[in-house]
Amino acid sequence: MKATVGNWVWRLGLGVMLGCGSVAVLGVAQASSVAQGKAIFDAQCAACHSVKPGVNGIGPSLYGVYGKPAAHVAGFAFSAALTNSHLVWNKVTLSKFLADPQALVPGTKMPYLGLPSAKKRDEVIAYLKNPEAK
Ligand code: HEC
Repeated sequence: MKATVGNWVWRLGLGVMLGCGSVAVLGVAQASSVAQGKAIFDAQCAACHSVKPGVNGIGPSLYGVYGKPAAHVAGFAFSAALTNSHLVWNKVTLSKFLADPQALVPGTKMPYLGLPSAKKRDEVIAYLKNPEAK
């Protein structure tokens, strides 16, 4: 009886340890993809976009863009194509847009040829979701 309880406690302990371990690993994986995403953003998007609120350049501010409807940033003259697209930016729509903006939104005025690597698109999206994380 005692042995059984001991065994159970041991298994519970192990379970908690494994659980914590995977949370920590997940945290590291997220942090590094955000960092990768920032590097890609700085190289390929920052010439036209800022992630600061209200800072529009050649492109609109991308602050908080994840989860928002397309073409809703105040003070930016969006194309009719994007305005009428009725898209909501999430992982799927952002990934399609970044792969080939003209394919998803024909007539968009974002002059960007596209990011062919799905992994890099995921990393940029992770960064857009959370530009404050390091
Ligand atoms: C040469 C300038 C330029 C580059 C480079 C560029 N963009 Fe854009 N982006 C724009 C413009 C202009 C628009 C507005 C498009 C429209 O109105 O059709 C836009 C729109 C967007 C939108 C939609 C915003 C909204 O509020 O609906 C997202 C998201 C976006 N860009 C992400 C990116 C990302 C991520 C990169 C880099 C991988 C990037 N862009 C590179 C100019 C650029």
